[in-house]
Amino acid sequence: MIQEELRKQTEASHHQLEKLVIAKLKKIYSDEDYVNLLKIFFAYFIRLEVAVKPYISSEILPDYAERRHAASLADDIISLGFMPSALPDVIVPSIDNTVKALGALYVMEGSIMGGRIIIQMLDKRGITQGISFFAGYGSDTETRWSSFVEVLDHYIKAENMQEAIQAAKQTISNLADVFLQA
Ligand code: HEM
Repeated sequence: MIQEELRKQTEASHHQLEKLVIAKLKKIYSDEDYVNLLKIFFAYFIRLEVAVKPYISSEILPDYAERRHAASLADDIISLGFMPSALPDVIVPSIDNTVKALGALYVMEGSIMGGRIIIQMLDKRGITQGISFFAGYGSDTETRWSSFVEVLDHYIKAENMQEAIQAAKQTISNLADVFLQA
């Protein structure tokens, strides 16, 4: 299955990003610190969404409109009394076909899996508001993930798998770069 290959190939970069996110989470002492973390994800995912949009039609991913979007990060920031402005500089991978777009979306959708752990860590630091982005799809998470994986299997084949893997790896490492610079 393509998802298993994507997971294997992105394991090292996921681990590096995970460490950077955890280090940032451990430095959260106030809502403002948390908002700065949200701003990193917002700046990155809003640009990534613009990059993938031309290649993800409702025919390819029928429930894309109902999936989690960067807009929920803006809502979280606003709900904490801040504005989604003064954002960090980000560079997103260049996406020029559906296979690369799905590689990038694999990272966005997959990031929901770490959300539960992030919420637990935030809770320990007294942050319980503005967490809709990390809450993802709640109890629907597994179903949503399975239907997304079916789409990956449908569009990504042996001959274009490397394109998807490279896009996914780049999507993770470019986000890690934002954390390194923040
Ligand atoms: C504190 C930070 C994070 C933690 C602790 C974490 C942890 C996890 C865990 C436990 C899984 C499930 C693995 C499995 O079921 O086999 C997962 C999956 C995944 N995470 Fe993270 N994650 C974090 C951040 C992120 C971020 C920021 C991204 C990307 C923006 C990301 C991308 C992914 C992807 C793509 C998968 C799916 C892997 C698969 O194919 O099964 N994660 N993560």
